[in-house]
Amino acid sequence: MIRWCSKPPNASGARYRAGLEGWLALLPELDAALRTGATVADVGCGRGYPSVLLAGMYPDARITGFDAHEPSIQLARERANAAGLAARVDFALSDAAGYPGTGYDLITFFDAFHDLGDPLGAAIHARDALADGGTLLLIEPYSAGSLAQNLAQNPAAAFGYAASTFLCTPNSLSQPVGLALGAMSGEQTLRGVLAQAGFTAVEKVAETPFNLVLAAQRRPSDQ
Ligand SMILES: C[S@@+](CC[C@H](N)C(=O)[O-])C[C@H]1O[C@@H](n2cnc3c(N)ncnc32)[C@H](O)[C@@H]1O
Repeated sequence: MIRWCSKPPNASGARYRAGLEGWLALLPELDAALRTGATVADVGCGRGYPSVLLAGMYPDARITGFDAHEPSIQLARERANAAGLAARVDFALSDAAGYPGTGYDLITFFDAFHDLGDPLGAAIHARDALADGGTLLLIEPYSAGSLAQNLAQNPAAAFGYAASTFLCTPNSLSQPVGLALGAMSGEQTLRGVLAQAGFTAVEKVAETPFNLVLAAQRRPSDQ
């Protein structure tokens, strides 16, 4: 696995800070559950920035961040300690398709899903680990779908493809399965993986020049 997420600062942090509150407001049932003490798994949590951000927004939520990169987990713990949130936010070393626990109200992947070798395996694991009615939230780089559309529409796309070529895609290829979605895979590809994992209720929550946010709700009939 490529080691690339171990040093501060967090380049995605400003986007999450600017977007997360608004995105969650568009999911009122989830927002209400978070306000009354939901349990959350933050998968591919890296150095814990989004886990700590969520915990700060929702003082009764309990969050466990999982990542396959041990130095990132250490830094994530230090971040939670420094924020005074270690009682509600903890971190564990785990693959995205193998972390413990069931009955999660929310499972998040912040800029991590496309990095995984086996995003389908991770989505299936998330489906099984969610409570009925629980939500899988994918926060992915924005992509219009095709290379031509992206380069024509979005000045950030060239950076996205460069990062994907040098970081995300090799990372995925270095792992078992190696599906290599790429950072610029886009909504239809992501929806396809979620559908294959058995999610039947998927909605686009938001689209910004930088992020695409998809929510998949686990239904009792999903399998
Ligand atoms: C781009 S970083 C995002 C980190 C964090 N979510 C954030 O937004 O700050 C992608 C993360 O996915 C993790 N990762 C990659 N493959 C993984 C796997 N198979 N299981 C768990 N974590 C994985 C990496 O170690 C890295 O921390």
